[in-house]
Amino acid sequence: MILEISGIETFYGETQALFGVSLHVAQGEVVALLGPSGAGKTTTLRSILGLTAPRRGTIRFDGTAVTARATHDIVRKGVGWVPDDRRVFPTLTVARNLSIARKRTRFRVWSLGEVFEIFPALEHLMERECENLSGGEMQMVAIGRALFGSPGLVLFDEPSQGLAPKVVQDVMATVARLKEAGVSALLVEQNAATALRVSDRAYVMDRGRIVHEGSAEALLEDDSLRLRLLGV
Ligand SMILES: Nc1ncnc2c1ncn2[C@@H]1O[C@H](COP(=O)(O)OP(=O)(O)OP(=O)(O)O)[C@@H](O)[C@H]1O
Ligand SMILES: [Mg+2]
Repeated sequence: MILEISGIETFYGETQALFGVSLHVAQGEVVALLGPSGAGKTTTLRSILGLTAPRRGTIRFDGTAVTARATHDIVRKGVGWVPDDRRVFPTLTVARNLSIARKRTRFRVWSLGEVFEIFPALEHLMERECENLSGGEMQMVAIGRALFGSPGLVLFDEPSQGLAPKVVQDVMATVARLKEAGVSALLVEQNAATALRVSDRAYVMDRGRIVHEGSAEALLEDDSLRLRLLGV
């Protein structure tokens, strides 16, 4: 098991955002984490990364307890993050944003050539400053940066948000490519159908709780279940 979360309760100040959230991701698995706005999807990712440490419960990554460890420690073990705001350094070039993210872990190392194979457009953008990139280009940098950290698991936070359909396809193809390479992913999406097509299993959250767990295929094909859980 690459990730095992068990019974976490996470707070913002005195406000509780997660209520006993448990989920797991097996080695090489792509798992979708779905649910409406405010359900607690980002908070779950922030809990894994130690950005908002859970008050109760445990998180294990790659066999080690990482609950409430420092974020840089967790990242160094091989947790990659593609944040919802893409958060690249705006005044640095693409090349610099990628090179400062370079890390070795016990997991697969991605060469620049492999990242260019996934996103051919990046090769021509290397000397550009990130503030001049489009949303789609910035997302490529954010994903390239996560790969340069040699992750065993990548946490994607709504990677399709605000992107043109073609770029969304490229991003989802990347998730599939990671899986082929043995890298696991936890894929947070509001766009359920898009996420489910590349996922093995899915969890649905609502108001800080996991309310459904099952195969991605079942959720994709069962219209009434999907309508009840996700309203789409
Ligand atoms: N920085 C914060 N301070 C206080 N409360 C917060 C903070 N961030 C999130 N929350 C609250 O925690 C709960 C879960 O929010 P979270 O951002 O995890 O939801 P989400 O599922 O990622 O939603 P979205 O799809 O809109 O991104 C919400 O009630 C939200 O208002
Ligand atoms: Mg969110």
